Amino acid sequence: MQRRPEPEYMDLDSEAAAYADADFADVNDAFAQRLVALAADIPTTDVVALDLGTGPADIPRRVAALRPSWRIVAVDAAAAMLALAPKAASVSLVRADASRCPFPDAALDVVFSNSILHHLPDPTDFWREVARVARRGALVFLRDLARPDTERAARDIVERYAGSESDLLREEYYRSLLAAFTPDEVRAQLRDAGLQGLRAEMVTDRHMDVHGRVA
Ligand SMILES: C[S@@+](CC[C@H](N)C(=O)[O-])C[C@H]1O[C@@H](n2cnc3c(N)ncnc32)[C@H](O)[C@@H]1O
Repeated sequence: MQRRPEPEYMDLDSEAAAYADADFADVNDAFAQRLVALAADIPTTDVVALDLGTGPADIPRRVAALRPSWRIVAVDAAAAMLALAPKAASVSLVRADASRCPFPDAALDVVFSNSILHHLPDPTDFWREVARVARRGALVFLRDLARPDTERAARDIVERYAGSESDLLREEYYRSLLAAFTPDEVRAQLRDAGLQGLRAEMVTDRHMDVHGRVA
C-alpha cells in the first residue's frame, strides 16, 4: 500500500490538548524501559540525551525518573505541545525542527524519539540530523508505527487496539498507520544517512523499533 503522509507538526491547541489528555502511560513506560535497557553500558554521568518530537514531554520525564543524572533535551516544533509539558528538573524543552536542531556536531550521547517518523513528509534531513548531532558510539532508539500492507489491515489494527476510543482518535490512528514507513523503507533511509549501525525491526504487529550505535 502506498504511503499517505499526514500533517507534520501537531500545532493546534485542540490537537495538542487531546494528545496530552490521552493515556499513554503504559506505552511510554515501555519505551523508557527499553531505552534504559539499550543504554545499559552507557555511563550514568555526563550523559546528554535528546528526544526528537517530544510532544508534551511525557517520555523524557519517565526516562529522567529512571536516569536522574542524565541531562535530557526535549525538542518539538509545536509550541502548543511544549506549552503542555510539565516542568522537570533534568529535562529542558527546546522549540525546534528535529531536522535542523540548534546543537553542535557530535554533542549527544543518546538520541531517542517516539512516533515522529510517520509525521515527516521526507525523513532524509531528519536522519542526517541524527547522524550529525550524535557522537560516535551514541545510542539511537526510535519507535514508530509501521505501515500495514493494506487499508483493510490498517482498519483491523485500529479496531483491535483502539476499538473503544472516540471516532476522532480512531481516525487519527488509521491515518497515522497509512502515513507510517515500512521497515524496508527505513533501512534504505538509514543507509542513505550513513547510519549503518542502526537496524529496523518489527517488535509488535504494528510497531517498529530502530536502534543501534552511531559508527
Ligand atoms: C505523535 S506525537 C509524539 C509525541 C511524543 N514523542 C510521544 O510519544 O508522546 C509527534 C510529535 O512530533 C512533532 N513533530 C513532527 N514533526 C516534527 C519536526 N520536524 N520537528 C519537531 N517536532 C516534530 C509533533 O509536533 C508532535 O508533537
